[in-house]
Amino acid sequence: MVEKLNAIGAGALKDVSAASTLEAIEQIRISVLGKKGALSEVLKTLGSVSAQERPVIGAAANEWKRKIEAALDERKSVLEKAQLDEQLKSERIDVSLPSRLPHRGSLHPVTQTFRRINQIFSRLGFDTATGPEVETEFLNFEAANIPADHPARDMQDTFFMGPGVVLRTHTTAVQMRAMRSQKWPVRILSPGAVYRSDSDATHSPMFHQVEGLWVDRDVKMSDLKGTLLFFAREMFGPEARIRLRPSYFPFVEPGAEVDVSCFLCRAKPSDSCRVCKGTGWLEILGAGMVHPRLFETAGYGDDYRKLGLSGFAFGMGVERIAMLLHGIPDLRLMFQSDVRFLKQF
Ligand code: PHE
Repeated sequence: MVEKLNAIGAGALKDVSAASTLEAIEQIRISVLGKKGALSEVLKTLGSVSAQERPVIGAAANEWKRKIEAALDERKSVLEKAQLDEQLKSERIDVSLPSRLPHRGSLHPVTQTFRRINQIFSRLGFDTATGPEVETEFLNFEAANIPADHPARDMQDTFFMGPGVVLRTHTTAVQMRAMRSQKWPVRILSPGAVYRSDSDATHSPMFHQVEGLWVDRDVKMSDLKGTLLFFAREMFGPEARIRLRPSYFPFVEPGAEVDVSCFLCRAKPSDSCRVCKGTGWLEILGAGMVHPRLFETAGYGDDYRKLGLSGFAFGMGVERIAMLLHGIPDLRLMFQSDVRFLKQF
């Protein structure tokens, strides 16, 4: 019987040292030391051995039990430590790694462009003035000297809200409001949304404009040119030049369309320039000297003549400038709220 115990014990120790998982250890514990384990089965037969042999066998069995338990415990702690090491290795965090920054929101390109334009003109003393987007037909058109038969007053170009009420087609009405309330001098910038019934890759039913107005004694066309040149250089770079082409706007006389030299090819016409399409120039604004009729509508009476008041005005599309600066091909991208587009700015 002692031999049998020795065989079981030796076999168990061998198995323990070969066990490579915690489950295997548990399995050995059950199959050797468990209630129905090999060692227990032998001890169940202890009743049938002689009284002299019994203590010897009992002692041998206990000795094996102790050895096997010790071996199991030792092997178990080795395996547990290995498992922990493995886990620590796989869950290791490199705390020195720079963190991934969350995406921060940014200002819309139209807002950014607005702010830049505003900053530039505020350095010349322009104040910001705003007005309602739903405007009277009178202030949007008549007061700007736009006659009743002007095509701009057609339903196809203007959104009518009701009789005599329109969604403003330009911010020129703000200029009239300012002249009426401040009299003179006036030096304002009027930014805001305007509406025209038009929609394609370069036109949108709603877009943004910035108009400027400067009324004071003896304001000349050369002041307008100087102001716009300053703006062009600040906006498009120190080498920017401007060019005025005679043009007609009912609210100014004389009037001009203003081009700025292409900031990409620097007004050296080339067929391949994607910004100016090879012309060397970009049309960015309308401008001119305030029509005397506007002073009369503003309630200046005859004073403007006696005081020698004159003024200039200009207007530009904000989206157009943003598109030119950033090479944006389609105006409609501005209003689709697609983050893939917006997060580039
Ligand atoms: N109001 C004009 C427009 O709607 C712009 C402009 C303003 C032109 C002032 C000349 C002078 O486009």
